[in-house]
Amino acid sequence: MSFSLLKELNHPVFKIVSEAAAAEGIDAYVIGGYVRDIILHRTSKDIDIMAVGNAMDLASTVGKKLGSTKVQVFKNFGTAMIRYKDLDIEFVGARKESYVRESRKPEVETGTLEDDQQRRDFTINALAISLNEGNYGELIDPFDGLKDMENSIIRTPLDPDITFSDDPLRMMRAIRFAAQLRFHIEPLTLDSITRNRARMEIVSTERISDELNKIILSSKPSIGFRLLDDTGLLEIVFPELYKLKGVEERRSIRHKDNFLHTIRVLDNIAPNTDDLWLRWATLLHDIAKPLTKRFDPESGWTFHGHNHYGARMVPEIFRRMKLPMNEKMKFVEKLVNLHMRPIVLSQEIVSDSAVRRLLFEAGDDIDDLMTLCEADITSGIKDKVERYLRNFQLVRQKLTEIEEKDRMRNWQPPISGEEIMEVFGIPPCRAVGDIKNAIRDAILDGEIHNDREEAWALMLQTGINLDLKPVPGNELPKPIETENHED
Ligand code: CTP
Repeated sequence: MSFSLLKELNHPVFKIVSEAAAAEGIDAYVIGGYVRDIILHRTSKDIDIMAVGNAMDLASTVGKKLGSTKVQVFKNFGTAMIRYKDLDIEFVGARKESYVRESRKPEVETGTLEDDQQRRDFTINALAISLNEGNYGELIDPFDGLKDMENSIIRTPLDPDITFSDDPLRMMRAIRFAAQLRFHIEPLTLDSITRNRARMEIVSTERISDELNKIILSSKPSIGFRLLDDTGLLEIVFPELYKLKGVEERRSIRHKDNFLHTIRVLDNIAPNTDDLWLRWATLLHDIAKPLTKRFDPESGWTFHGHNHYGARMVPEIFRRMKLPMNEKMKFVEKLVNLHMRPIVLSQEIVSDSAVRRLLFEAGDDIDDLMTLCEADITSGIKDKVERYLRNFQLVRQKLTEIEEKDRMRNWQPPISGEEIMEVFGIPPCRAVGDIKNAIRDAILDGEIHNDREEAWALMLQTGINLDLKPVPGNELPKPIETENHED
């Protein structure tokens, strides 16, 4: 039975490709993710055109028909690309061999439409729409991809062992699509992933991290992480996370399974942020729990300092996974380090000085930190969760009050290290740091105001207590020098 998607091809570009293909005397199809997304009512700006014939010639004819549109040719990949308005249109010839976008093998044997479709990853990604005169708009679906789409199923067109051996990254793609689309992986396909998991070792880190990021950004990331675990891929691609698994019991005291806890926290934060790095911070917030786990007969299981050690693990994990070693990594490090602070605050009577310190340390990331901490409450006891969330509301309120009053978010102490050295005539040494800390702590604790004169007096006193002598003429603060921009 033929199924037409004619009304979905309403963008003028499809008619232009169709006319160009007719002029070249070849057949052309829309294929892959774009077709899948039409049926799932998702918007996509990436169109893949498959030509049974010379894709480069087709692309250049389309480029001419679109006006002076530039055609980028990737000789190494055997593909051509046109950017037209907000669309990326990629042209590729039908292949007999597996279709792998990153493949650097241009001289693959040319094939028929069906050859090409069967070497794609999943039935839902192997659908094609004809752009040819006789059957323009017809869906060509030799592997029942449409039915799989209706039943929310991920399945390979060929024997999964063949499809995955063509490109082992597809094992992670299967899991990523399951998480993104909330589909099920068909049992034979799932078994094949488990069986072939070791092949993952030949895949580049960048491609793996790219899929991991997509799982992390999905609306319910736990689906993906559970599948990674069920298939044995988790241990290979993310050993630190794998180590969070398991529950130990001593003297009838059990600790929670920190892997399950972590992915639950990730699900909790998903509706509140689409920021990849805040989601990474969430994934790594308890990463050092196995390292710091102790059993204390008095207090049971403890994970002292896991926030601190966790922060120290972040750069290594980012380096290995080829994630950016820049301010994004620093942000994740900072949030992992601070993630216990609001919880501790919410359990005590919230003092001004504790809030001031938190604002000082978190700076502009305070809101993200609070979002992470709220997601971190995963108790099954409803009353407990409500009590925590109420306390967090108080902490948030207090944060706003103190910020309005003291402006601590991006605060810089009023006296610099250089000034301290100048006043006491000393080189860089430990005393400089001690004096700076004394001033900072006094302000954060509310012992003196955030004021240069009060800080100056404290600097002199602290220096004298450390047996330092101020250079004469430094009894009072000098006005802060401002840059002169007159010239
Ligand atoms: N493809 C494949 N095997 C891969 C990668 C891609 O068979 N390892 C095929 C699939 O037919 C896929 C198409 O190439 O639909 C386009 O790939 P890509 O743009 O990477 O993915 P999409 O399916 O479009 O999905 P997304 O944009 O969400 O990554």
